[in-house]
Amino acid sequence: MAASLLLLLLLFIFQCQIPVLFSQTIPNQDDSYMKFVQNANTLPTREEYDYIIIGGGTAGCPLAATLSSNFSVLVLERGSDPNAFPSVLSQQGLANTLTDNDDGLNPFQRFVSEDGVENIRGRVLGGGSMINVGFYSRAQPEFFQSSGVQWDMMAVEKAYQWIEETVVSRPELSPWQSAFREALLEAGVGRDNGYDLNHVVGTRTGGSIFDSSGRRHGAVELLNKADPRNLRVATQATVKRIIFSQSNGLSASGVLYSDFKGKLHKATISRNGEIILTAGAIGSPHLLLQSGVGPRSHLSSLKLPVVFHNQHVGQFMADNPRFGAAIVLPFLTPPTSVQVVGTLKPNIHIESLSSILPFSISPPFGLLPPRSTAVNLSLAVFAGKFSTVSSVGSLRLDGRKNPIVRFNYLSHPDDVQRCVEGVRKVGDLVNTKSMERIKTGDLDGKKGFEFLGAPLPENMSDYRLVGDFCRKTVTTFWHYHGGCLVGKVVDDNYRVIGIKKLRVVDGSTFSLSPGTNPMATVMMLGRYVGLKMLQQRLG
Ligand SMILES: Cc1cc2nc3c(=O)[nH]c(=O)nc-3n(C[C@H](O)[C@H](O)[C@H](O)COP(=O)(O)OP(=O)(O)OC[C@H]3O[C@@H](n4cnc5c(N)ncnc54)[C@H](O)[C@@H]3O)c2cc1C
Ligand SMILES: *[C@@H]1O[C@H](CO)[C@@H](O)[C@H](O)[C@H]1NC(C)=O
Ligand SMILES: *[C@@H]1O[C@H](CO)[C@@H](O)[C@H](O)[C@H]1NC(C)=O
Ligand SMILES: *[C@@H]1O[C@H](CO)[C@@H](O)[C@H](O)[C@H]1NC(C)=O
Repeated sequence: MAASLLLLLLLFIFQCQIPVLFSQTIPNQDDSYMKFVQNANTLPTREEYDYIIIGGGTAGCPLAATLSSNFSVLVLERGSDPNAFPSVLSQQGLANTLTDNDDGLNPFQRFVSEDGVENIRGRVLGGGSMINVGFYSRAQPEFFQSSGVQWDMMAVEKAYQWIEETVVSRPELSPWQSAFREALLEAGVGRDNGYDLNHVVGTRTGGSIFDSSGRRHGAVELLNKADPRNLRVATQATVKRIIFSQSNGLSASGVLYSDFKGKLHKATISRNGEIILTAGAIGSPHLLLQSGVGPRSHLSSLKLPVVFHNQHVGQFMADNPRFGAAIVLPFLTPPTSVQVVGTLKPNIHIESLSSILPFSISPPFGLLPPRSTAVNLSLAVFAGKFSTVSSVGSLRLDGRKNPIVRFNYLSHPDDVQRCVEGVRKVGDLVNTKSMERIKTGDLDGKKGFEFLGAPLPENMSDYRLVGDFCRKTVTTFWHYHGGCLVGKVVDDNYRVIGIKKLRVVDGSTFSLSPGTNPMATVMMLGRYVGLKMLQQRLG
């Protein structure tokens, strides 16, 4: 998997190499939320709130802001606030952050699934929305149709808008993104949809949570919409387990969390209060299992008391495989994150970004002709995803701090088929006229691509060859989901089945990855469920 690590590194080398050419000053983010953020070690060891939200991430922040309009809310986030890592707040800085070693305090946590694929999770207030590539796109209609929830589509629309007015910008297309857009259209990837946040088939420019000065507007900024009198956000607060009571049927009653000094704190909920898990697609099933909610045989094998048996907790974990290629460009172009996407029926998506090669090259190099001096070049990454994943895996505990996850990438033949179709499209795309200039020529006048990592298959009509390419190069798009599916672990109101006063509201409830990219819908879900809860309680 060394090649995938290299790709991961390169994917995020946006601007660190040539700061003189592309640097800008980044204005500060709106961090008025900082007035209700407190390190957990300064909080009492016993407290009561109406709502306790576990995980101050992509869904947790909008949910907390919403519930705080009428009730007291405590958010418990294991990471620090993003001001501790200024690099996550700008597009330029992210590269440095993501190539750091994981020292347990970084804004991200590395993990390797049992499949051998390197992956990362957010570990910072704002969660994955603070370390991601920032592309913003709403869910496809099939997501709403197949999710097992009776959506109020007017409320969905309003919830998306509530998010978008705060975090989304319309990107100005970089030269690379414009060229990529041309190539998508030339390769016949549907019609030209212009700028559109909605999921539509064809080629379009989506939203970005990076504004025109490269500043990130992540989920933390949704906390600015809270009623500050009702909200407390604790950082470096790691929830160890959920506490239950049997007084009136099985119900959640509080949580135990530890601060960075290892001191345990207990927070409980008021009479009509609730606990909501928004710890993400890995964190939420992990914490349910740790709290004794899950398959009896698995929990017993670890000598964990079984609070409630549910065989589906931690099951149906899926990660959309990333396929594609990285090509060294024979020129230097300003780096950009993802701004344009091409969507094919049925839900195969291709995105691209350019970065600067983190080393200069002394040609001859591959197909580059000899030159007397070293040159700095750019790299283009073509990255494809398909939304519907038929291969699923699971998450389980093994007594250590972090859970074990297996996604079984491409184990279902339908996924291989989708990948093959996607790779063929990437092949069409790079062979368009618009992409002619990314070919390098050698002295004999031959032209070709200078791939970094695995080259695209030579014979795209050979299904087996392309399928092998998919399996050999599979990596993650970081859109992993599942573990607490609607209808299996939670009901259609996101309430944990069999347990009162406990919900799960995040990507762990998804059986289908929403849209080209999930962040928009995870944020929307936090707002949407928060408003539903207020309506149900206040009438
Ligand atoms: C590198 C990368 C690039 C991506 N690019 C994009 C993109 O361009 N567009 C897009 O739409 N999506 C993108 N995604 C995906 C998207 O960011 C995530 O799907 C989304 O943020 C949800 O993440 P999550 O489910 O892991 O939850 P998170 O948002 O990470 O929320 C979980 C939070 O809970 C906290 N937590 C977990 N366990 C505990 C505990 N026990 N106690 C206290 N707190 C806890 C975590 O620290 C975290 O802050 C990307 C993701 C990554 C990693
Ligand atoms: C390449 O980049 C390095 C590091 O930023 C810089 O020092 C060097 O001058 C650049 N070389 C060329 C040929 O632009
Ligand atoms: C809930 O909060 C909103 C906004 O703060 C307020 O207008 C409304 O009166 C509150 N409702 C109740 C029942 O307290
Ligand atoms: C490409 O693969 C197809 C299908 O397997 C095969 O028929 C064809 O001969 C191959 N072409 C080349 C040039 O190898």
